[in-house]
Amino acid sequence: MLLIYFLLFLAFHVLEAHAATCNFFSDGCWVFDSSYPLYDSSACPFIQREFDCQRNGRPDQKYLSYRWQPQGCRLARFDGGDFLQKFGGKSIMIVGDSLSRDLYQSILCLLHSSVPGIKYNRTRVGSISTVTFLDFGVKVKYDLNPFLVDLIATENGTLLILDSVAEKANLWRQNDVLIFNTYQWWYYRGAKQPWQFVKVGDKISKDIDRNIALKRALGTWGQWVDSDMDPAKTRVFFQLVSPSHYDGRDWNQPEARNCADQTEPVLGSVYPGGLPPARGLQKEALSLIKKPVTLLDITHLSQFRKDGHPSIYGQDGRSGMDCLHWCVGGVPDIWNEILYNLLFIP
Ligand SMILES: *[C@@H]1O[C@H](CO)[C@@H](O)[C@H](O)[C@H]1NC(C)=O
Ligand SMILES: *[C@@H]1O[C@H](CO)[C@@H](O)[C@H](O)[C@H]1NC(C)=O
Repeated sequence: MLLIYFLLFLAFHVLEAHAATCNFFSDGCWVFDSSYPLYDSSACPFIQREFDCQRNGRPDQKYLSYRWQPQGCRLARFDGGDFLQKFGGKSIMIVGDSLSRDLYQSILCLLHSSVPGIKYNRTRVGSISTVTFLDFGVKVKYDLNPFLVDLIATENGTLLILDSVAEKANLWRQNDVLIFNTYQWWYYRGAKQPWQFVKVGDKISKDIDRNIALKRALGTWGQWVDSDMDPAKTRVFFQLVSPSHYDGRDWNQPEARNCADQTEPVLGSVYPGGLPPARGLQKEALSLIKKPVTLLDITHLSQFRKDGHPSIYGQDGRSGMDCLHWCVGGVPDIWNEILYNLLFIP
C-alpha cells in the first residue's frame, strides 16, 4: 500500500515537473499534421496583400499544415473560442515592426475563424489599429513602432533618441497583454533608414554601431518596463529575432540563393546555420530587466521554416523576393499557438 502511494506521489511530481520544465522553444521539430491549418486564409478579412500568399497565387499548400512539436511535451491546439472566453473584456497589444504585424494578422484570423459569424469592428488612431470582437469585448491592437524608443522630427531632420522610450508608451501601458519586438530596422541603411541623427546621452551623431544602438534601446525599454509595468495587471512578452532565409548555405543547400521554391521545412531537429547574433544581444539586454518579461523565442523554431516566407508571392508575383516576412496563414499561427499555451494552458 505504501509503495503504491509512493509511486503515485512520484508519478504526480514527475509529471508536474515535466510540464513546468518543458521548453517550447529550445528543442523540437516540425511535424506534418493534416488537421492543420487552423483556418482558411481566404475567409480571413485581416490579411494584408503582402502576406496573403494563397491569394497572390502561391501554388503549394503543404507549408500550411506543419505544427511545432517541442521535445518532451505537446502544445495544446490553438482554441480561439477558449481564448475569447478566457480573455473576455481584455486587450492585447502587439508593438513593433512588420514582423509584429505578421503576428497581429495571424491572431486576428485565428480568433475570427473560431466563432462563425463573429461580430467585430475596427478603428485606427494614428499608428494604432484596433479590432474589437464585440460579443466578447476582446480588443486586439497593433502599434507600428519599429524602434520602441523615440523617433522625432527636428529642424535638422529625424532624430532617434536611444535613451527615451517612445512617446506612445503611455498607450501601451493600459493593456492586459503586451507583445514587443524590435530588431530589423536597427540594421537598415540608406533609403530604408528613417533617421538622420541619433542621440545617445547628450551626444548627437550621424551614425552609431547598430548592435550597440539596439542594446541601448532595449535597455531604455527595459527601464520603462521596470518603472511603469504592473505585473499584476499586464503580462509582458518580447518576441525575439524572426529569422530570414536569403542564403541556402544556412540550410545546407548552397545552390539556393533565397527561399524561392521552398515547399518544406528543414526536417529534423538541427538547423545547420547558427542563431543570428542579434538574438544574443536581445537576450542579454532583456536579462537586466527585473520585472517579468516572457520571451516569445521564435528564432530557432522559425529557422527551420525556409518554406514559410512569401518569396515571390508577396504581391501578385511582380515585386521582389520576400524571405523575411511570413505568409498568413502559416508560421505566425504557430507563434500564436505557443502564445496561447503560455497564456492559458497551465
Ligand atoms: C467598436 O466597438 C467598441 C466596443 O463596443 C466601441 O467602444 C467603439 O466605439 C466601436 N468603434 C466603432 C468605430 O464602431
Ligand atoms: C540643429 O542644428 C543646429 C546646428 O548644428 C544646432 O545649433 C541646433 O541645436 C540643432 N537643432 C536640434 C533640434 O537639434
